[in-house]
Amino acid sequence: MILRLKYDYYSKGYVIIRNVLNKKDLDKCKDQLILSYKKILRENINYNNIHELLTKYEKNKEWDKLYIAFKDACQSKPFLRMSKKLENLTKNFFNVKTKTLTCAYAIGIKNSKRTSYDWHQEKTYYSKIRKKTFHYQFPFFEKCIKLNGTMSVLEGSHTLGEISNYTYNRKFKKGVYSYIPKDIKLMQKYFKEKFLNMNIGDVCIFHENLIHRSNINKTNKVRFAGINRQQAI
Ligand SMILES: [Fe+2]
Repeated sequence: MILRLKYDYYSKGYVIIRNVLNKKDLDKCKDQLILSYKKILRENINYNNIHELLTKYEKNKEWDKLYIAFKDACQSKPFLRMSKKLENLTKNFFNVKTKTLTCAYAIGIKNSKRTSYDWHQEKTYYSKIRKKTFHYQFPFFEKCIKLNGTMSVLEGSHTLGEISNYTYNRKFKKGVYSYIPKDIKLMQKYFKEKFLNMNIGDVCIFHENLIHRSNINKTNKVRFAGINRQQAI
């Protein structure tokens, strides 16, 4: 089983491991999300109205407040615990000892392009680190599917190695930066785009050189996707 998953990872540049994360750990991250937004935004937030409220804050460009709440959640115990679990997963899957560099989550708000990334390699963001890096994405609030803008990848594109020829682009002030490979149009002809459809409990491991992006959320519910980045020690 693990051998097949490994070959999947090395041939395609990513693999989704199904139902491997502990539901209780994921629920704690979900609870923490509510707590952090409640505390920072000073609103009566619950599992149902969080989507509407965050969409309102995004529309009103209250991005600084959203960012403070985001930071509060990322630095919390449940997210740190999840990092430890994923470091263990790296140890089991790759037999490599790692430390976490980033523990966070991606946010996809309906039709918003501010927080969505165009095509890029993760390695570009960690280019100063010469050791191997490991990358995880996992749903913890709602499932991540094509309709709510889940991440997509160009299957097998990790075989291109680290790309140094890219354009640097930011669509919004206070938006995310994308380092888009200059040949992206051609790359899209050679490597097939695959969407990561994941349920709660699933996790995707992807290669530092795999070209990927996040997509536009077409639903009314905010998409939260857990993120973990590690480096070999
Ligand atoms: Fe990325």
